[in-house]
Amino acid sequence: MSGPGPIAPALLAWFRQNARALPFRQDPTPYHIWVSEIMLQQTRVAAALEHYRRFMEALPDVPALAACPDEELFKLWEGLGYYSRARNLKKAAQLVCSEYGGQLPASFEELQKLPGVGEYTAGAIASIAFGLPAPAVDGNVLRVFARLYNDGSNIADPAAKRLFTRRVMDQQPADAPGPFNEALMELGALVCLPGGAPLCGECPLADRCLAKAAGTLLELPVKTPPKARRVQPVTVLVARNARGEHLLQKRPETGLLAGLWQPFLFEEKLTLDEALARLAALGLSVSAAPPRPLKPAKHIFSHVEWRMAGWQLEAAGDAPAGCLWASPEEAAGRYALPGAFKAYRPLLTGGR
Ligand code: ADE
Repeated sequence: MSGPGPIAPALLAWFRQNARALPFRQDPTPYHIWVSEIMLQQTRVAAALEHYRRFMEALPDVPALAACPDEELFKLWEGLGYYSRARNLKKAAQLVCSEYGGQLPASFEELQKLPGVGEYTAGAIASIAFGLPAPAVDGNVLRVFARLYNDGSNIADPAAKRLFTRRVMDQQPADAPGPFNEALMELGALVCLPGGAPLCGECPLADRCLAKAAGTLLELPVKTPPKARRVQPVTVLVARNARGEHLLQKRPETGLLAGLWQPFLFEEKLTLDEALARLAALGLSVSAAPPRPLKPAKHIFSHVEWRMAGWQLEAAGDAPAGCLWASPEEAAGRYALPGAFKAYRPLLTGGR
């Protein structure tokens, strides 16, 4: 199939004029690029920036990350979701300290041996921080290339991804792999937008875009829809004691939101009577003040959707195993409460 011709000169000229001034672009060390790319994997740029700033202030280099206590690390990650990313960052930092003398390896292949560093992240670090020729093909780049080449292959198919990656490398100039990769991501993020909204009038590649010429832009990229999510009912009990503390519960060390904190809850749908009986069985007595219903909320994880409902109530007794009573200050400042509980967070933290 004939392609769109060389794209690098027009793309790089556009990027020089239009690149956003992002903090990790001011000082693109391997550590900065690594952490920023991990943060940006499931999170929008705007949402990640404040987290990135706080993270670098607290953990300015690989040894600091390697030595960071989990509780503090999760607090820095609070709200970004997919906390296994933070766990892997720390594990990888420890490995970089023990195996590579504290410096990330300048190799696309070696980087992929680090926990949480796949082909995309390794390619981004290798090209952007080390200037090495390597692909960094994310969803933005797949969309741009599906359109540029007017290619209706299913981008969820590994064979299609390999073909697109080969095309990216054929186009990548040897003297600017990093700017080329970042320019493609930036074009996807700012101009070649998903859905029905590409801004072709602003695109430096519009005159050679094969999908634009063929009128197939809005059909591309082709991607098989992900499997439907399982719906999980969750009963949340925002339990407060006479000291104004709330019951927090540590999640199991494996699985969803592993090791993080949550309001006391059951991952099933319970009636009020059933919930009160469970509390009583755990040695907690509920005071006479009638429990008040919580507003229902939902949270979407990658494979499961939580539908939360429950009650706010007054309780007394020792915290059950794996739980503690936390003051509003502690709930806000010490324990990482995942974004899944955003709807109930102000009740636990007093709005902090
Ligand atoms: N999304 C993920 N990484 C990015 C980067 N380096 N530039 C722009 N958008 C991105």
